[in-house]
Amino acid sequence: MSPHSITAIAILILFAGSFYAVEVAGDYGSGTEPVELVSTVAEQREFDYFALALQWPPTYCSSSTKCCATSGCCRGEDNPSVFTIHGLWPDYNDGTWPSCCSGPAFDANEISTLQSVLDKYWPTLSCSKSSTCHNSKGVFWAHEWEKHGTCAAPVTGDETNYFLTTINLYFKYNVTEVLFEAGYVPSNSEQYPVGGIISAIENAFHTTPQLICLNGALEEVRLCFTKDFKFRDCVGASDCPDYVSLPEADTTRSTGQSLSGHETY
Ligand SMILES: *[C@@H]1O[C@H](CO)[C@@H](O)[C@H](O)[C@H]1NC(C)=O
Repeated sequence: MSPHSITAIAILILFAGSFYAVEVAGDYGSGTEPVELVSTVAEQREFDYFALALQWPPTYCSSSTKCCATSGCCRGEDNPSVFTIHGLWPDYNDGTWPSCCSGPAFDANEISTLQSVLDKYWPTLSCSKSSTCHNSKGVFWAHEWEKHGTCAAPVTGDETNYFLTTINLYFKYNVTEVLFEAGYVPSNSEQYPVGGIISAIENAFHTTPQLICLNGALEEVRLCFTKDFKFRDCVGASDCPDYVSLPEADTTRSTGQSLSGHETY
């Protein structure tokens, strides 16, 4: 492990400790919430459950050809061959979800200590800017916080705690490990039965995931949680064929720049 990742994990544990301390104290009262940016956002009712969306980068990356220094598809030898985080999304039981709830706009400073962890485990896989709320565009994390994180706030708290909660869930439930150990390893030739992939996750976590596919390849695994982070079923159906591929990362794809000197992953 590099010194950077050790530092990142130490920070994570530190933050996680304070997060859980806060959670135990139940200190999520509205009295401590920052001033709202836009007061015209209609109140949305509180969500019912969370979906933790994890993406398989090689599948997503195969659908986009643009490369840029910030994209997790363009790191050459370091292109991820593990599930990475897409987001932690509040959902309603009727299949819809709240978005762009009232709350502070994304502030990069709030997550600066988590930057190396986010680059590694929650990378953007696109070179385009993402839509944020209030008609603007920003980085992937700005999109996730403003669209989804603000609506999760009654449970997860402020921006820092939203990202920490998500990373903690990701570390706790390692879908990559579960699939690899069940023999579902990256391959550009194998086709795997979706029923087997679902069973592997059911055996490990006692919950049924929702799977999302793209052109016959597994693109996303979604795990759903109650608001106190116990597993529950997702509402949406899987959209995969009976057999799917789990493609390998394309390590030839890079921006051509050496990342070793200044990047932390
Ligand atoms: C999850 O498991 C994979 C495969 O064993 C491993 O490479 C990866 O580092 C693990 N991820 C986390 C966040 O611990």
